[in-house]
This record gives sequence, structure tokens and C-alpha cells, in this order.
Amino acid sequence: MAKNTNKVAKAWGGVFTESTDAQMEKFSESISFDSRMYAQDIRGSIGHARMLADVGILTNEEFEAIERELLAIKARIEAGDFEYSTALEDIHMHVEKALIEKLGDVGRKLHTARSRNDQVSTDFRLWIRDSIDALDTLLEALQKAFVGRCDGDFDVVVPAYTHTQRAQPVLAPHIWLAYVEKLQRDRERLADCRRRVNTLSLGAAACAGTSLPIDRTKTAEYLGFERIAANSVDVSSDRDFALEFAFDMAQIAIHLSGWAEDWIWQSTVEFDFIKLPQKFCTGSSIMPQKVNPDALELIRGKTARTVGNLQALLMLTKGIPLAYNRDLQEDKEPIFDSYDTVSASLALAAPIVSGAELKRESIASRLDKGYLDATSFMEYLIRLGVPQRSAHGIVGRLVRKGIDSGRVLAEMPLDELRSECDAIDERVYDYLGAANAVKAMKSYGSTAPDQVRAQIDSWKNLLGLASASTNG
Ligand code: ARG
Repeated sequence: MAKNTNKVAKAWGGVFTESTDAQMEKFSESISFDSRMYAQDIRGSIGHARMLADVGILTNEEFEAIERELLAIKARIEAGDFEYSTALEDIHMHVEKALIEKLGDVGRKLHTARSRNDQVSTDFRLWIRDSIDALDTLLEALQKAFVGRCDGDFDVVVPAYTHTQRAQPVLAPHIWLAYVEKLQRDRERLADCRRRVNTLSLGAAACAGTSLPIDRTKTAEYLGFERIAANSVDVSSDRDFALEFAFDMAQIAIHLSGWAEDWIWQSTVEFDFIKLPQKFCTGSSIMPQKVNPDALELIRGKTARTVGNLQALLMLTKGIPLAYNRDLQEDKEPIFDSYDTVSASLALAAPIVSGAELKRESIASRLDKGYLDATSFMEYLIRLGVPQRSAHGIVGRLVRKGIDSGRVLAEMPLDELRSECDAIDERVYDYLGAANAVKAMKSYGSTAPDQVRAQIDSWKNLLGLASASTNG
């Protein structure tokens, strides 16, 4: 029988009589992006080989040679002294081929009781686990930047908005801590995702497991996985862990986008609440006066990709039959892109938060606009025994008088206030004005100064920041 002498040496080539089409090779390669997981691939292989030695499939000498050469390959990749080729498809094949070049038959034993299906899943889990840890550090740094502003901004009262209309006065640090809470939930979500990511896939092999006497508890121990996936068919097809990571990253980006949006409009001439650090702004090529908030606009804009990446992964996995299918190779680029986007955005956000300046005078000069104290006034009436609905109406009518005559509530004489409700007395003026309205707050989680102080202290404690001065 004639042999195909043209055949390219593929690891899986035994059964083939035709060499791979050049276009197919280019179309199906993943080395151009999965080379990014080289460290995880090598780490996974060392853990796997160590286990194979434990159970007697490899000798200790064979394991030691494999470990030594894998580490040498890693060093070569890091030194830029490693050639990638599309003919070798992916990072797994590259590392294995390089090992075999060095070790011959010993290298040919590494892929025992393993398939690229459980291997790629393991590499991806290790990569995501590392990325979750890196994101957690960045999220914490951004929390510290917000908490770090709180003491300095403690005396600044700002309007809180609902429907983008002035609503009630709050302390500026109450706003900063609102972002800190969101970032904390982002961290908690990632930590929860990490629990499921941190599951051992290796040992599932292609989809059915293996007849060889492996010990998956050892592999899990060597690679730091907290649990072992219990169903080999599930392992082969499962990408839930990547999808939830994609969601968690999209949610972080959406939180950042909301903050960026706030600071973009608050830095306009119309608002004049905040001055952004110029090193994160850029100018205009035609309008010499412009200082544009490009960093914030890009943080807001790049959120689109993270949402798109999540959508892509949902669509990718929606109709995939059990178990592994090559479609799943498409899972990596969206995750890498979201990670790059979100980590760069977080890294930029922290110095913007620390470096921005509140325009105190400008904020204070317009704080009596918008009747921010109306709710405080209404609650004063409720404390006097006026039913809430009636109190709402009384204050509404007085606000109307104020609007018509161009006065704030605190400027109205007692007689005029009493004309709507004779229960009102002198003490009403203790609740009028933005600063008084803030001071009157009491409930847990409110903007009451002692509540905000306690929250700042508790965040400092949690984040390991120097604790507050008692006179803050
Ligand atoms: N590059 C592949 C991927 O990312 C590795 C797994 C290939 N498995 C296979 N049976 N062809 O999914």
C-alpha cells in the first residue's frame, strides 16, 4: 500500500493519510492566543507527571527529567527563545513537542492518562484562578483609593441625585463608600466564582476517564485545587466557570462605567464639582482650551467589550452537545480581552480617584438650590405627629411658595411656615438647610455623620488602612 510521504508529523497523525490543508491549519490554530497560558500548561504538566510517578506509571528519574525539561522550556519561552508554529496548533502541543525533542521516549510518556480536553480545561482554570487573584488586588487598591479620600472630604456636603435631579444632601464620603460597597460585592462574586474554578479537571481525560491507575487527589493537591470534578463527561464540556468569570468582569466594568459617567458630568463647567487629574486627560487638536476626560470615557466605553464578550460566550456554549467540541477553543479570547480591559481600567481608576479634587466652594455655593432639605423638613413634621402624606403636602406647598418667590425654605419666616401647619415651631430651623438635613439623619446606613464615620472606620479596618483620627 502506498504511503503518504507528504504527511506533516502531527501528534494525532497516525490514522491520517492526507496532510492538513494549509488554510485549515491557519483556521484552527490557537497558539496565537493560548500561548498566553504557557505557565499554567507547564505547571499542570508537572503536577500531572508528579502524580504519574506517585502511582508508578513514571519512575522518579523520569519525573525529575520531565520536570527539569518543562522548567527549561518555561525559561526559554520567558526569554523569547521559543518558536511557535501554527502546524503545532496550540500551547499543549508546543510544550509536549519541545519536551519530546529533549527527552525522546520519556517525553512521550507525559500525555499518559490525559487528553487535551482535560488539559485545556485545567490550564484555563489555573489561568482564571491567577487572574481572579490579580483582579482582587486591583479591586482592593481602588477601594483603598476611595476610602483614602474620606477623611479629607468628610466635611463636604454634596447633593445626592435620583432621576438625575437633586434629591437629598449627603456627605461626600457617603458617595465614595457607595462605590466601595459595589467593589466589595465584585470581590465577593469573584471569590465565589474562584471556588468553582478551583476544581480539578485532569483525570477526566477525553470524556470517559482512564483505565490507568491514576490518583486524582494527588494531582489536585499538587495544583492547589480544592475539589475534584466528579464527572468526566461534564469536565470535558463544562465552561460555566469561564462564563461566570466573564459576567463578574462585565459587572466590574459596569460599576466602573457608572462611576466614570458620574465624574465625567461632575467635571463639566456646568457642574464644576470635581477637577480630574490632568495626567489622565487629553486635549483637542482644534480647540486649544479643551481638557477632556478621555480616561473616564474609555473606561465607560470599553465596558461594551466586556458585555459583548459575555454575550459571545453565552452564544458559544448555548447549543454545544456533550462533551468536548472544538467550538470551545473560542472560549479564551473573550476572557483574555475582558481581563485585559477590566484590569487596565481598574489600574487607571485608582490614581484618578486619589488625584481628583473636589471643588468645595463651587459645590457649597449652589447647595441651597433644589430644596435638598425638603425631606428633612417633612420628617420633622412627622415627628410632631403629622401623618406622612399630610406632611408631604404641607412641605410641597411651602416649596412651591419658595420657588415662586425665589427663596429657600430656611429664608421663610416662622409665621409663613406656620400658615401651612400650626404645629411648626422655632426648632424647624434646626432641620432646614443641607448641612442640618445631613446632621438630622439617624438610620443605620444613612449619611448621618456618625454613621459615615463608623463606616469609614470599618472599611479602614477591613482594608488594613491606618485607622481614623478620633476628631475626624
Ligand atoms: N486548542 C484546543 C482548545 O482550546 C485544545 C483542545 C483540543 N482538543 C481536541 N480534542 N482537539 O480547545
